[in-house]
Order: sequence, then structure tokens, then C-alpha cells
Amino acid sequence: MIARVQRVGRALFGALRRPMARAFESAENPLNHIGAMTVFFLWIVLISGIWLLIFFRTSVSGAFESVEYLTREQWYLGGIMRSLHRYASDGAIVTIFLHLVKEFVFNRYRGNRWFSWVTGVPLVWIIFVLGITGYWLVWDELAQYVAISSAELIDSIPIFTDSMAGNFLSDDLLSNRFFTLMAFLHLIGLPIFLVFGIWLHIFRLTGPRINPPRRMMAATLLAMLILSAVYPAISHEQANLAMAPETLRLDGFYLHVYPLIQIWSPGWVWVLLVGVSSVIIVAPWAPRQKKEQAALVTLDYCNGCERCVDDCPFGAVEMVARTDGTSYSHQASVDPDLCISCGICVGSCPTATPFRSQGALIPGIDLPDRSAATLRDEIVAAGVGKPSPHIIVFACRDDNQLKEIEKAGLSVVKVVCMGQLPPSYVDFTLSRGHADGVLLLGCQDGNCSYRFGAQWTEQRLARQRDPMVRRRVDLSRVAMGWQAPWSENATAVKKYAAFLEALKQ
Ligand code: HEM
Repeated sequence: MIARVQRVGRALFGALRRPMARAFESAENPLNHIGAMTVFFLWIVLISGIWLLIFFRTSVSGAFESVEYLTREQWYLGGIMRSLHRYASDGAIVTIFLHLVKEFVFNRYRGNRWFSWVTGVPLVWIIFVLGITGYWLVWDELAQYVAISSAELIDSIPIFTDSMAGNFLSDDLLSNRFFTLMAFLHLIGLPIFLVFGIWLHIFRLTGPRINPPRRMMAATLLAMLILSAVYPAISHEQANLAMAPETLRLDGFYLHVYPLIQIWSPGWVWVLLVGVSSVIIVAPWAPRQKKEQAALVTLDYCNGCERCVDDCPFGAVEMVARTDGTSYSHQASVDPDLCISCGICVGSCPTATPFRSQGALIPGIDLPDRSAATLRDEIVAAGVGKPSPHIIVFACRDDNQLKEIEKAGLSVVKVVCMGQLPPSYVDFTLSRGHADGVLLLGCQDGNCSYRFGAQWTEQRLARQRDPMVRRRVDLSRVAMGWQAPWSENATAVKKYAAFLEALKQ
């Protein structure tokens, strides 16, 4: 069932990707930077919010007037800032939703990745409460509706004895103190929790990408500025607790559950909100899956070079003091609770060399479930009796393309992630004549299931990152086919056909 939902989700992402891929290169495709785009939107919210704060008056009578002043009299700056604040907040909701769906459909939320997933849920709650209190502070008719409906929602929780809705019976009863509390929540309390929450959310990731490419930021900001100028955010009429507002323009990003408070009841809205959040929180363990074995360090071959520490995308490897009495000062140590068995550490290990002739091929760090020795054996087997020109395709994908590629007479050797393949394996494949060409078929940067597989592989082959491919390797015999995991089959097929033709030449 979950796999079927994920398949549908991937197809939808595919449909979204195709027009995007025509307009943007992979590195600048917004779909590859959704988490970072959320952070960027939040920056706009913060900076525009600081401007609004300078002029905002935190009293029941002053709030509406101060926002009106910003919108109408200071329209060229305050009005633009208000609109930016509104539209960037809406943008954050869109990107958070896409981010959550993308991580789910591409299965990046299970096993040891549960931490980022689970810590994402409170972030959504904080952002929604921020949006709701933001609407409240304008103190117009929409704020009145939000305040009264929120009070009903909160009063339905049995632990509160005093009725919050009682504050909104008349303008006289509504105290400035209560309004100041809302302002404090929106302007100080919740933003502090949000910053801490985002830090916690990415805490276990190495080198999290929190900034989208510069051009993307500039284009987004420009689009937001144009939108703000053409369609500025405005208020409803000033709140008047003696009258119920007749027509409201309800915000579809933050306030979509509010009509349900009246249509259902506050209790059922809580059931919905808590229910959806709970389902998301338990999703990484439902159903339980077999855990892949963590990477294994063999001290006899570990020289403490630290490359595995530098390359691990999940901070699962660290250097600790040597325990075996050899002259090396440090050794790698894997935390099995953080390791997600991608094998990128094996790709970075200088001792994972297939040229080893003495003894078994045991590198300093290896994946027990898909070892460096198995990869070497499969390369050797793939090259036996194949007519020239023969290509070995290293693939981390598992889709129809591979069947098609095999049907065309090419051999496929599967790796967990392209970053698992040490560059010496490319050298070995070509120099020992197991193939005439090598095609690396992996997920493009920004879509790599293990975050850095494409990036590290490209850098190792470009001789910019250790371990580098040796100079003797003729790189014209190596092709890389990076694709989004939901891309159509044709791309790789075209690529290998063109590559095969070039090899024949
Ligand atoms: C304020 C809201 C959020 C922000 C700003 C945010 C931002 C980010 C960023 C910057 C990353 C690192 C991306 C990378 O470098 O690979 C990330 C990773 C992640 N996020 Fe979020 N996120 C938010 C909400 C959520 C939510 C609601 C969920 C799901 C419930 C979620 C799930 C994840 C997961 C699972 C990862 C780790 C992916 C991996 O292991 O490769 N995030 N997020």
C-alpha cells in the first residue's frame, strides 16, 4: 500500500519535474532545493517582519491603525514589506508541503533517517501557529474570526479552566495584556522555537544545504516583489466584536481548517490535527523494515585517514583514538544508529582497491551487505566473453532502464549509491580489460537518495576530491548519466547509445 502511494507520488513529481527540467538546469531546478527554499522564505519573513515590528503597535486600538499606516501611507516600503511577509509565509507552506511529500515518496524518512522526519512535524505546527497569530495581530475582521475560532478550539481542551473565548465577548473585555501576549508569541517566542527546531532538524546531517543557488534566490525575491507591488496584501475592516463579519477572504495556506471548527466541532478538528501529525510521526516505523547492516571498520586496513568522516552524509563515522596499538593515532568508528548503509564511506576509502592481489579484498571500511569484494567479483564476471565494445554500467537505480540496458547487451553492476564506487574500480574495469567503457548511471545532485553520491563521484573523477581517479584512466571512456530518480527512461538509453557509438569510433 505505502509502496503504491509512493509510486503515485513519484509519478506526480515526474509530471512536475518535466516542465521544470526544460526551464532549469539540474543545479538550479527548484525541485532539487525545496528544503533550502523553505529556509530562504523564512529569511524573507524574518527581515520583512523586523521592518513591520518597528512600526507595529501592540495594543488593541493601535494594532489595526499601525498596519493600515504601513499598508496605505508607507505603501512603497511598509506595504511592500507587509506583502513580502505574507507571500513568503505562504511560499514556506508550499515548499514545506512539497519537501515532506518528496522525502516520503523517495523513501528518505525510514530507518536511521527518522530523526529529520520526526523533528519536521513540530516545525509544521510552529509555522502554522506563527501564521495564525500573524493574522490575529492585524486586528481586522479576519483577525476577529481567527481569534474567536482559535479560542473555541483552545477552550475545547479539557485542561483549561478559564474560558479564552470570554475575552472576545466585547471590545471592552479584550485586554491589551492579552494582545501583547499574542504579539510576544508571534514576534519572539515562536521564532526562537522555530530557529532551534530547524537547527535540530538538520543537526544529524553533514553539510546540510540551507541556501538555494544565488540566482534562484534573486529570481524568487524579484517574483515576490512584483507580486507584492501588483497585488499588495491588505486588511479587512477593523475588528468590531459587537458585530459578526459578513464576508471574509480566508487565507487558504494557514486557515484552511478554520471553517471545519464550525462545520464539524472543535473536538473533531483536534482529532484531525493530532491524528494526521501522529500518523506522520510513526510513519518511519510503520511497517517495521529489515535494517541493513551498518558499515564495518576493519582495523587491520584502517589508517585513520579521515576521508570516510569527511564524506559520510549523515555524520555516522568519527575518528577515535587508536585501540590496536599500531603507530596510527586514530581509527574510524561507525555509529550504527546513524549509519544508513549507503556505502559512501567505502567509495572514499583508499584501501578499497580492487587491484589488491594478496589476500582477500577487505578495505578499512566496508558494507557487509554489499562488500567491495562482491563488487570486484561482479565486474570480473560481467566482462567475461563479451564482444567489444563492451560497456559496464554501474547503477544505483532499480528501474526499467536497467532491463532495457541489459537487453541491449550491456552489463549492469549495482551499487547502493554511486558514491560507494571507489574511483579505483573505474580504473580496474578499464585497465584490466573487463570493459571498454564505463557508464555511471546515478541520481543527479539534489536527488541523490544519500545526498552526496553524485557530487562526490563527479569530484573524484574530476580529480578534485580524494580518492582521485588515477591520471592514466582515459576519461573519454567514462560517461556519467545523472538523472532525477523519476525521470523518463529515454535519457539514459540515448546517453548510452551515443556513448557506445563514440567508443566504436
Ligand atoms: C520549517 C520547515 C522545514 C525546513 C526549513 C526544512 C529544511 C530542511 C533542510 C535544509 C534539510 C537538509 C537538506 C539536505 O541538505 O539534504 C532537510 C532535510 C530533511 N527534512 Fe526538512 N525542513 C522542514 C520541514 C520538514 C518536514 C515537515 C519534514 C517531514 C515531516 C521534513 C523532513 C526532512 C527529512 C526526512 C530530511 C532528511 C533527508 C535526508 O535524510 O536525506 N522536513 N530539511
